Amino acid sequence: MNFRSDNCYGVAPEIADAVWAANQGTDSSYGDDRITARLKARFSEIFDHEVYVYPVISGTAANALALATLVPPHGAILCHAGSHIAVDECGAVELFTHGAKLVGLEGANGKLAPAIVETALARFEKGSVHHPQPSAISIIQATEVGSIYHRGEIAALSGVARANGMKLHMDGARFANALATLGCAPAEITWRAGVDVLSFGATKNGAMGAEAVVFFAKGDVRDFDYRRKKSGHLMSKMRFVSAQLEAYLDDGLWLKLASRANAIAAQLAEGLAGVDGANLAHPVEANEVLVHLPDETAARLRKAGAVFYDWEPPRAGRTLIRLVTSFATPAQDVANFIRIAKG
Ligand SMILES: Cc1ncc(COP(=O)(O)O)c(C=O)c1O
Repeated sequence: MNFRSDNCYGVAPEIADAVWAANQGTDSSYGDDRITARLKARFSEIFDHEVYVYPVISGTAANALALATLVPPHGAILCHAGSHIAVDECGAVELFTHGAKLVGLEGANGKLAPAIVETALARFEKGSVHHPQPSAISIIQATEVGSIYHRGEIAALSGVARANGMKLHMDGARFANALATLGCAPAEITWRAGVDVLSFGATKNGAMGAEAVVFFAKGDVRDFDYRRKKSGHLMSKMRFVSAQLEAYLDDGLWLKLASRANAIAAQLAEGLAGVDGANLAHPVEANEVLVHLPDETAARLRKAGAVFYDWEPPRAGRTLIRLVTSFATPAQDVANFIRIAKG
């Protein structure tokens, strides 16, 4: 019963096969191979727009490189206080931007909203050398607490970004999970809603190690190529990363995998509704379930072999835990988890 992370699960067979297929013969290195060459067209088709796509091998690299390309060292990036870039990336964005300031903001269900951003913006005087200059808003899709941004919410944030000369970045480590729930075209929640750059995740949803930075306007790409090389993220055998991304998108595999992970999370949430003292902390809209559990229930589950993270330290006899599901989480694990939780 592993609910620690979708990262704990393996690779979708279709993606493993694609890596194996890419292993035949030789090809050019450093992204000049045939598979990487096909990616631009494939992503452009998926996003219904000409896009500029750059494979990297970690979400941290995608976020840090994307933001460093769009934000100057004296810039400020407004993000949720609990966002991955602010809490879990060891200051990578600050390093790669050469010191831009991350401004963490509170918002319900792990999300930012225009009023929250506007209030924060009022604290920074435009043109004053004493203040970092707000340069980007960064949002997560799906969020760290399993909620998702709807199209209108993204468009509203992009309106604030535009009005203030800022860019909108989306950390899409779980982009497929959000998309599977929304059931809309990828364009609707990216460039059509005003997203300038997307960290497109695949690893958590069945790839072995493949992410991509996707720019929606050529002008925003700027010196990205050099930054990726200088940071050590221009892989010499990039075809194996690109092969994963290609297989991920083929025949809607990415959405099939994400739909399965989401369905398992929904089953967990449904089952938890029948557990004494269990309270969902946020809407379950993707593949993460944040739930307050009585400490004795959490302890019983752990004793029975379930693994999951505490999201907050225990308080007043209960703990907020996070349960993450994957395309490969066995349905039986959900049934067992709920049975044990019921005691
Ligand atoms: C929302 C989010 N963004 C980015 C990342 C970073 O991915 P990586 O661990 O590949 O650097 C993660 C990983 O947990 C994540 O949850």
